[in-house]
Amino acid sequence: MMIGLACLAGPVAAQGFDDTKDQCVACHAAGDAAPETPLLGGIDEKYALLQLVAFREGDRPGDVMPSIVGEFSNDDLRAAAAWVASLDPSPVPEDPTEVDAKAAEALATEHRCNICHNADYRGGDQIPPLRNQHAAYLEASLLDYKAERRVGDRAAMVEVAQALSDANITLLATFLANLPDDGD
Ligand code: HEC
Ligand code: HEC
Repeated sequence: MMIGLACLAGPVAAQGFDDTKDQCVACHAAGDAAPETPLLGGIDEKYALLQLVAFREGDRPGDVMPSIVGEFSNDDLRAAAAWVASLDPSPVPEDPTEVDAKAAEALATEHRCNICHNADYRGGDQIPPLRNQHAAYLEASLLDYKAERRVGDRAAMVEVAQALSDANITLLATFLANLPDDGD
């Protein structure tokens, strides 16, 4: 597969985590990560490991991750997951996008986003956080679940996303990505 992203300096196949970590940072660093590249701060170690294994095993599609971790050993995956879990949550947007918070909160309650991902949307045990994240990534993830391009560990999200209109997916993604740091 061709990898044409500017932040990827060279081919990374057949390398372990230690050789690749600089590239992880380059793509995922909070300041200049592309909107479709997830911010990793706040993700728990078990969720990170599940996703990295899924990329390696071909169970989660991706433009870049499957080839990056394709040759990782189990120890590399564990070291990478521990690194992800050590990162602080990324800063929220300085110039938040206006959104109908009442409508978004009603949707989140109706579809129990705030049960599985926690009332504060910081996720937890094997569950990803939904805040301090790019809206574009949240939206793309929800559309991937809806179309069953991404199924996930327990397939919970396919059912959730298929019950949402595309407009409601955009609303929820925008709302969650713009949640301020100081409140729930
Ligand atoms: C070339 C850019 C790039 C590099 C290098 C890169 N990533 Fe990624 N990463 C992505 C993108 C884009 C995604 C979204 C899935 C996809 O398209 O592959 C992603 C997804 C992830 C996810 C899933 C996050 C979530 O919220 O589900 C984890 C964890 C992750 N990367 C960790 C790493 C680690 C660890 C490294 C280094 C070993 C790394 N990435 C290197 C671009 C990159
Ligand atoms: C029954 C529990 C459950 C409910 C309800 C739920 N989620 Fe999830 N969600 C999960 C799990 C588990 C994952 C990880 C799945 C995987 O492995 O891909 C996840 C993953 C996600 C992701 C991917 C995040 C990332 O970093 O890649 C997004 C976005 C998301 N959920 C948004 C939502 C939204 C928005 C709602 C409400 C409309 C919601 N979820 C409701 C359990 C749930």
